[in-house]
Amino acid sequence: MTNWLVTEYLNKMTLEEKVAQLLQLAVPFFKGAKDSGQITGPMKSLGITEEQIDNAGSVLGLAGAEEVLAVQKAHLANNRLGIPLLIMADIVHGFKTIFPVPLAIGCSWDLELAEKSAEIAAREAAVSGIHVTFAPMVDLVRDPRWGRVMESTGEDPYLNSLFAQAFVRGFQGDDLRNERDRVAACVKHFAAYGLAEGGRDYNTVDLSELKLRESYLPGYKAALDAGAEMVMTSFNTLDGIPATGNRKLMRKLLREEWGFDGVLISDWGAVKELIPHGVAEDEREAALKALQAGVDIEMMTSCYVHYLPELVAEGVIEEKLVDEAVLRILELKEKMGLFEQPLRGADPELERTVVYSSEHRAVSRELAAKSCVLLKNDGLLPLGRQQRVALIGPFADSGDILGPWSWTGSQETAARLGAAMQAASAEASNVTLAAGCGIDTFEKALAQEAAAAAEAADVLVLALGEASEMSGEAGSRSDIRLPQAQLELLRRMKQLGKPLAVVLFNGRPLDLSGVLDEADAVLEAWFPGSEGGLAIADLLYGNVNPSGKLTMSFPYSTGQIPVYYNSFNTGRPQGAPDAQVRYVSQYLDVPNEPLLPFGYGLSYTTFAYGQPKLSSATLTAEQPLQVSVAVTNTGSTAGTEIVQLYIRDMAGEVVRPLKELKAFSRVELAPGESRTISFEINEAMLRYYHSDLSFGSDPGAFKLMIGGSSRDVQEADFRLV
Ligand code: IFM
Repeated sequence: MTNWLVTEYLNKMTLEEKVAQLLQLAVPFFKGAKDSGQITGPMKSLGITEEQIDNAGSVLGLAGAEEVLAVQKAHLANNRLGIPLLIMADIVHGFKTIFPVPLAIGCSWDLELAEKSAEIAAREAAVSGIHVTFAPMVDLVRDPRWGRVMESTGEDPYLNSLFAQAFVRGFQGDDLRNERDRVAACVKHFAAYGLAEGGRDYNTVDLSELKLRESYLPGYKAALDAGAEMVMTSFNTLDGIPATGNRKLMRKLLREEWGFDGVLISDWGAVKELIPHGVAEDEREAALKALQAGVDIEMMTSCYVHYLPELVAEGVIEEKLVDEAVLRILELKEKMGLFEQPLRGADPELERTVVYSSEHRAVSRELAAKSCVLLKNDGLLPLGRQQRVALIGPFADSGDILGPWSWTGSQETAARLGAAMQAASAEASNVTLAAGCGIDTFEKALAQEAAAAAEAADVLVLALGEASEMSGEAGSRSDIRLPQAQLELLRRMKQLGKPLAVVLFNGRPLDLSGVLDEADAVLEAWFPGSEGGLAIADLLYGNVNPSGKLTMSFPYSTGQIPVYYNSFNTGRPQGAPDAQVRYVSQYLDVPNEPLLPFGYGLSYTTFAYGQPKLSSATLTAEQPLQVSVAVTNTGSTAGTEIVQLYIRDMAGEVVRPLKELKAFSRVELAPGESRTISFEINEAMLRYYHSDLSFGSDPGAFKLMIGGSSRDVQEADFRLV
């Protein structure tokens, strides 16, 4: 029910004030702003008046308590009705304390710690004046060419949904009005942005409704079920209509079917982009289509302020439609207590103690260590503290480890790998650093310096990867190998014949040709955040045992993309008992499966799985079944295993994936310890979308698979009756 206060404001507003409430602008437009804030899209002249700016409803990319207070106070002084601004920003994986990028957080499979990271991000952001974060990004991703895969938790709808909810809980808490150290979450990008053709950002998306519902929508729905206050549209088309002007998607599905009554915001410039997309002739038509689709806030273009008043005056749209959008925005302001306390949590003094506290950084370090994935280890790791190590590569001494979307973080204060390894080794002098090459430039002098460092060392550790601007928004790549200069450095170092480990810093699964085979050990560190160097040193020296597992497959080569674990079978599957040599679905030059699959990751110990035991061979809608499996730590080091349960529906009404993750458990085991892990399987876990889009289960045969990765599983059969 609409709050009376909010209705009163609406009743007092002129039509011009209402449409300005729907306008969101970047920081430089506002009085009181000292710097430009975060600019995340094209800055074009918007042709707007001083009055429209004074009546704007929200600002994006503003942070810092002093600055926020100055902007908000100036706005209140100039806004006729004293309606406060909503302050929004991309706080994606931390504010000042930067956590690993979300794709890395996914690899921790640690929902509690993920929630904690969002809670800390919210606390730091709120004290610096932010009200809404443009997160979580829950787009399902299966194409590592797309730079934004680093913002998602990966290729699985179930796991993504759990993370989406954890992030929303962490950002928002239970009571946004009274918990002033929380921020509202804006789930994005609705919908299916992760499927951009060819992995090229902003590109076309085309998929069946069945696939959309089955794989792409669950993450957004889960975030909304957890209470996310806002939704952001995606840049892509869906069924030939850009999301921002897509009535079926926004009005029918999001608002009517799902009952979402919160604020829907366009992405940066996306309303006006309906013109180059080719569904609007001009700004007037773009404004009309976006409002009709249900978009409340227009981010960084001015179609609404310029054309909604005349569209209403001419009777093309009813003023009611504008009012509804304004009400949703005012209601969010009211819910966040902004009418009583427009300055909300912004507190310059508290900001100094809360932000980047040692307590927050400790959580970042723990999460970074849990997010790294050990991809290969021929016994080289962990390193001995007495060993002489040459740490070579562009990331040996680099602060560029925060990753994209960390504009409020500081590369200068980030814990670099070199210093952290020197501190972890018995003597700092045991670890010598050399850049070896630039990110994508090979210099003889640097290579020679690296060779000299390597000469004196027992072990080589190569710190290689992508600069942060090589992924993230507008960071698509067609070739996802390491840059040639780094591959050349690796080749030369390999020739020295010394044991060689590689630590990778990157925002996407890479094509690891020339890396995985060459190295004795490979640790995938992603962009690990503020405490990254310390977390990696913890792992390299064995103070912490790696436990991360991939949540996005690593392809053999770019030509294999998209490659993901939960794909369909074909009518001519490779490896079937009656399969011919040629006429099967396969590549002639690479396997069908990824090089490193979903769920894969090594430890310094080993785990053995027993045969799964079922409480019954059948289950019914009323009677779930229990499955248990013995997991044993067969090595000599304590370790954490992520026990994964997958199910395959052997014959559905429509084709079902070869495997679907349905449950998992993080289990800590002492050396030699064995534990029985139990899961319940119920009928709800077996439901899926049918060809008529109904959602339900069908009786029949199922296979369950339990193991330490999607590839390495123990199987058992059961039936739903
Ligand atoms: O939130 C982002 C979005 O993910 C991509 N375009 C810019 C927005 C605001 O910064």
